[in-house]
Amino acid sequence: MRLSTPEFRAMQSLPRRLGQRFFEVPMFRRMGLNLDNKDVLEIGCGSGYGAFLINELQPKSYVGLDIMDEQVELARKNYPQFQFLIQDAEDLSPFANESRDVAVIFGVLHHIPGWRKVIDEIARVLKTGGCLFLEEPRGVDIKAFDALFRWGHPDSDFGLNTLEKFVFYRGWTLVHKKWTPLLTMYHLQK
Ligand SMILES: C[S@@+](CC[C@H](N)C(=O)[O-])C[C@H]1O[C@@H](n2cnc3c(N)ncnc32)[C@H](O)[C@@H]1O
Repeated sequence: MRLSTPEFRAMQSLPRRLGQRFFEVPMFRRMGLNLDNKDVLEIGCGSGYGAFLINELQPKSYVGLDIMDEQVELARKNYPQFQFLIQDAEDLSPFANESRDVAVIFGVLHHIPGWRKVIDEIARVLKTGGCLFLEEPRGVDIKAFDALFRWGHPDSDFGLNTLEKFVFYRGWTLVHKKWTPLLTMYHLQK
């Protein structure tokens, strides 16, 4: 779903970037993120700062996608050296079965009422043994941000318990989980 204007602005802010650079990516690395010789797909790449950080880890290839054309236009302007697509993550048909090694999500599934379809599409495009690095907020934090900052998240049954039940039901392996005050982070393996 498209971001509200306040959240769109917050996603371009310095605090968001500092969090991603000095906390989230280092945490994923401690949880096993290693992109040497890997084909990487980022879901909900926003304006591209995640692409910049992921590419510092020197993957073999990188593609970022986002449903908002404004986000992808910014990403292309900010980082013309990387590949970005305007694409709904519920439909990963531009990617062949078992074509990517790693998928990365920085806080996106809670924006997508059809988040189960996204997980299933990621499972389809990941190679056997491929990994999903995923971070999402708790429902209570989403409600707090909506009340405080009018971010206006969509009505959805998304929640961390629901997510965990679904990925286990679908046969993913939990390699590592880390709770942090605003985001819970997962390393899942297909
Ligand atoms: C909270 S922002 C996070 C952006 C970026 N990953 C970051 O951490 O700064 C969520 C992003 O998901 C994108 N998004 C929402 N629904 C989507 C969908 N169905 N498919 C792809 N991207 C989607 C939004 O446009 C937005 O850029």
